Amino acid sequence: MPPKVDNNNAEVNPPFILAIESSCDDTSAAILLGKRVLSNVVANQEIHHLYGGVVPELASREHQKNIVPVVSAALAQAGIAKEQLSAVAFTEGPGLLGSLLVGGSFAKTFALSLGIPLIAVDHMQGHILAHFIEDDSKTAPTFPFLNLTVSGGHTQIVLVKDPLNMKVVGKTIDDAAGEAFDKAAKIMNLGYPGGPIVDKLALTGNSSKYAYATPNVDGLDFSFSGIKTSFLYHLQKEMKKDSEFITDNLNDICASIQSHLVKYLLQKMEDAICTYSINDIALSGGVSANSLLRSEFLKLAESKGIHGHIPKFEYCTDNAAMIGIAGYFKYLKSDFADLSTSPKARLHF
Ligand code: KG4
Ligand code: ZN
Repeated sequence: MPPKVDNNNAEVNPPFILAIESSCDDTSAAILLGKRVLSNVVANQEIHHLYGGVVPELASREHQKNIVPVVSAALAQAGIAKEQLSAVAFTEGPGLLGSLLVGGSFAKTFALSLGIPLIAVDHMQGHILAHFIEDDSKTAPTFPFLNLTVSGGHTQIVLVKDPLNMKVVGKTIDDAAGEAFDKAAKIMNLGYPGGPIVDKLALTGNSSKYAYATPNVDGLDFSFSGIKTSFLYHLQKEMKKDSEFITDNLNDICASIQSHLVKYLLQKMEDAICTYSINDIALSGGVSANSLLRSEFLKLAESKGIHGHIPKFEYCTDNAAMIGIAGYFKYLKSDFADLSTSPKARLHF
């Protein structure tokens, strides 16, 4: 049984929440006071760069090494003692099972030893609720709104009716948007993760130099595997004629594929705006760090006369602060998990 908590006063007397995120290859811990982030520590696992992608077994081992120092650093940066915590939130899924297990087991033990509630958070909901982290420079979206969530494992359009009431109205039927960036980079031998590398190289390239296939998928669903194949075939064809093709045209290739992916994402978002009656759209997930997507997303909102929202850069890629804000909303509703909760590689809200 989770401990009894008096949270009637939580909005006036906000809770201190420790949040832990370990769904993939970043070990992160954050402390929130209500909706305010006091610390947000992220330890990236460099080891995967050697392998050109995340190796699940290595990720889990790195989380085991990182989790205690990362949580200690989060508490120290926030300037609070663990006894002041009101609850522990953690990522329940989706993600890599071995990675989720490390964060989940740590969170359970910590909550149990302190006698405070445990809160299980859906990683994808965390990405969306990152918009509600208190920030003087931004206003949060107004409900209901449409969120485009683009990460390394997911691509979704979500109708968000309130913080804990969300419905996926469109999703990818194969690869995710982040995977499309990463695979394009891998084909060009650029390193991992490829998204930020392509983004940087695209800055000085000509985005209309090369064209790629546009998938034909019904409704608000996405497909990225055809784009990847057309990208691969184009490069193979050009490399047969000129072995230096990639090196000589790198910036233009990156700008062209990035622009193609962004246009495709935003075309679906435009269709969603026409389908649902909303005044706000929001962008989140790792790919929302992409400079072109950020600027084009805000232009789309403006052209439709609605409000566009993008989280601060540090809350786009995986981080524990987004798990903490989701934990806060669950805390307000006394939506606590018990100790038998197990991590879930797949999770759907
Ligand atoms: O949300 P996230 O940190 O982890 C998952 O939940 O998957 O997203 C990681 C993805 C990777 O595919 C990475 O290449 C992509 O986000 N990404 C970017 C950029 N920064 C990160 N993609 C395009 N442009 C970027 N600047
Ligand atoms: Zn993520």
